[in-house]
Amino acid sequence: MAYETIIVEVEDHVATIKLNRPDALNALNSQLMRELSDALRDADGNEKVRCIILTGSAKAFAAGADIKEMSDKSFVDMFLSDYFGKEHDAVTRVRKPIIAAVAGYALGGGCELAMMCDFIIAADNAKFGQPEINLGVVAGIGGTQRLTRFVGKSKAMDMHLTGRFMDAEEAERSGLVSRVVPAKQLMAEAEAAANKIAEKSRMTAMAVKESVNRAFETTMSEGILFERRMFHAMFATEDQNEGMEAFLEKRTAQFRDK
Ligand code: CAA
Repeated sequence: MAYETIIVEVEDHVATIKLNRPDALNALNSQLMRELSDALRDADGNEKVRCIILTGSAKAFAAGADIKEMSDKSFVDMFLSDYFGKEHDAVTRVRKPIIAAVAGYALGGGCELAMMCDFIIAADNAKFGQPEINLGVVAGIGGTQRLTRFVGKSKAMDMHLTGRFMDAEEAERSGLVSRVVPAKQLMAEAEAAANKIAEKSRMTAMAVKESVNRAFETTMSEGILFERRMFHAMFATEDQNEGMEAFLEKRTAQFRDK
């Protein structure tokens, strides 16, 4: 499909989606969010793809929702269109693992989009923030909820109330990102992680994603029961058999998604 605000490449088993509105620091407008939702749905449905990377430019992952697009809207416009509601849900419905590779600014909706992915690898020049308060609004695609779960109440309040930016080192220390790498190595690191995931059983990777995500949605005891049942269910797959046999025979497992 021809997109104008994103670039999609599929290489081996990895789909890379690059946000591409360089003149606006990849600000998220309706067209970009619609194209991103479509591209993610296609990657999720593409048999060949086993992992997805979402990235931006060297200067900005995304500097937030598009302020120019939003500035004239009324409450009625926002409410009736459920602004970014459908697109938020489309991103979170993707069942395959998504890695956010973040360089430069990840602000407002950009930080929220990165947090919707399954983990974040940050370049050492990355800057995260929820500066919506400076515009007289609150975060709108999960920032108050997800950032609080990632970094705790005190730091989330600090970020949302002051609108300050957090550098990559602080983001890693706080649990927002999984690793920080030199900016030049960002894509190589993200691709290596995606290829590593692509070697696993696709079913098991999807089960891991569903199980970890239960931790955000339910109580500890329900989450642990969900995980245990998922663990039990894996014993109905050939990939469990292959994984364990390969270990015992001291060879690399050849998973077949069965
Ligand atoms: N929306 C629309 N355009 C944006 C944008 C945004 N969020 N962020 C940057 N741009 C545009 C600028 O308007 C500018 O365009 P022009 O050249 O046409 O004027 C271009 O991108 C480059 O930006 P700057 O000149 O400002 O670049 P800078 O290097 O001086 O500053 C920055 C970079 C600190 C990221 C600054 O651009 C900035 O503060 N951007 C806004 C960040 C923000 O407030 N994000 C939250 C948006 S609201 C939101 O996201 C709500 C939600 O939760 C859903």
